[in-house]
Amino acid sequence: MALHRVARFADVPENRGLEVRIADTKIVLLRVGDQLRAYQGECPHAGAPLAEGALCHGRLICPWHKAAYRIEDGGLCDPPSLDSLKRYPLEMRDDEVWVDDQPLSDPHTPPADDERTFVIIGAGAAGTAGAAALREKGFGGRVVLIDREADAGYDRTVLSKFVIAGEMPPEEVPPLRDERFYREQRIERINGEVASLDTANKTLRLADGQSLTYDAALLATGGTPNPLTLPGADLPQVFLLRSKDQATRILNAAKPGQRVVIIGDSFIALESASALRQYGLEVTVLARHAVPFVKQFGEAVGKAIRARHVANGVVFHSDSEAAQIEGTGKVEAVKLENGQRLPADLVLVGIGVSPATDPFADLPKEKDRSLQADGGMRVADGLWAAGDIATFPLNGQPQRIEHWRLAQQQARIAAANMLGGDEHYLDVPYFWTWHFGKNYDYLGHAESWDEVEFKGNPDHPPFIGLFSKNGVVVAAVACDKERAMAMLAERMKQPLPVDEAWLLIRDVD
Ligand SMILES: Cc1cc2nc3c(=O)[nH]c(=O)nc-3n(C[C@H](O)[C@H](O)[C@H](O)COP(=O)(O)OP(=O)(O)OC[C@H]3O[C@@H](n4cnc5c(N)ncnc54)[C@H](O)[C@@H]3O)c2cc1C
Ligand code: FES
Repeated sequence: MALHRVARFADVPENRGLEVRIADTKIVLLRVGDQLRAYQGECPHAGAPLAEGALCHGRLICPWHKAAYRIEDGGLCDPPSLDSLKRYPLEMRDDEVWVDDQPLSDPHTPPADDERTFVIIGAGAAGTAGAAALREKGFGGRVVLIDREADAGYDRTVLSKFVIAGEMPPEEVPPLRDERFYREQRIERINGEVASLDTANKTLRLADGQSLTYDAALLATGGTPNPLTLPGADLPQVFLLRSKDQATRILNAAKPGQRVVIIGDSFIALESASALRQYGLEVTVLARHAVPFVKQFGEAVGKAIRARHVANGVVFHSDSEAAQIEGTGKVEAVKLENGQRLPADLVLVGIGVSPATDPFADLPKEKDRSLQADGGMRVADGLWAAGDIATFPLNGQPQRIEHWRLAQQQARIAAANMLGGDEHYLDVPYFWTWHFGKNYDYLGHAESWDEVEFKGNPDHPPFIGLFSKNGVVVAAVACDKERAMAMLAERMKQPLPVDEAWLLIRDVD
């Protein structure tokens, strides 16, 4: 351990962090009133430079996927990070800032001082965040995490962006937590399919016949991709994309120069179009809408993203639906209802997902088969739900939203409430999507707006657009405006007049 002089106090701006280095270690210095703090310089989630994040309401918000940390002590406030920031001891000598090259040690695992068993079904975004949060919040009892996938929970968002683009081998998909974490935190992982849940007796049964009783359970089984129900849909080169296995199968089948028809214009469909095109395939998208993503992003951004795809060689068809997949033993073409035939070597189906709630027969369900959760993510006595299977109240309206960060936020709320807390979702939904090297950020969940205004041109990023209703921002969409969006992620939690939002954006630019 040794202290190193890294900066002068006056070098550290008041409204953002300052990145400094000790040898190869990046450290971010932050002001807390007239004091300073030193934390790891890269976000524990995916390595974003935290000095480029926003400081707001006592939090540091990551520029990339909007994880939030308390400035005071580096504590984790919001996912997709699942860790607090490592803090480095810091000393002021006159106006010089001296920082230790060794961080303070990690927090301990809670002692095994609780008789209860908490079970989590599904080890994806929500389930893994829920398990980590139970320990972070001090639960000492048994935590059992069950998933039908053999691997520990992993970042499935990279499958449609980098894995099927050939840029990240499936075995390098980042696990959400490493093996050491599960061991040290005493989180038991079971690889198995939950077949049914007997809520009256607090017992679940696995497909292999094993059963397990629990004191409380978090249901986090996510979504199942909607299959195509057309003649020929069972041919071996017709693919869905949700899991690492499915991504591997697509990669094994796809060869540069081949023709793929993508059915659907969902986010996963168009991210896959971008990835497979980058991998060197001829890509045709059979789109349901003339302009994609209008419902979320509005016309201008939807058109810009479509144009980006077209400029990169993706061909769109939106005037007819698929009627049949043709081929004997292997895919040869997609035949449309208007008689047109699109030759194809493979087909990828991206027409949305349905909540994976089959095992939960005795719980009340919404029309879309999702579970009804209250504002604290509770669905019944001793049962909570989070992620793609949960419909929950957002600003008073029941909503089911398929976003990675939201699934993890819901799981953290559920974990707090499983331990007797009373937390509710008071945040702004956020997601990101990646097309031909550009990341588009979206904040809010607006079903309607009366005005949309842009700074910059959606056709030529950087740009940021604000959607407003009665003068208040209801959503924001942007590309290459990370600090401004990080700031808005915090400020939009309270009603934010659109004029004030533009001033904030100007100030952080
Ligand atoms: C390819 C892809 C890219 C995406 N990209 C983005 C993005 O860029 N940004 C964004 O915000 N969102 C993105 N999403 C959406 C995001 O991944 C989901 O909203 C999120 O994963 C939902 O979390 P979850 O925990 O509810 O479900 P999941 O992460 O799907 O986890 C559910 C888990 O439950 C398991 N399971 C299901 N049924 C059972 C059972 N009966 N027994 C045992 N285990 C079971 C499954 O195997 C799975 O591991 C993407 C989704 C996909 C598929
Ligand atoms: S890199 Fe910080 S939230 Fe993803």
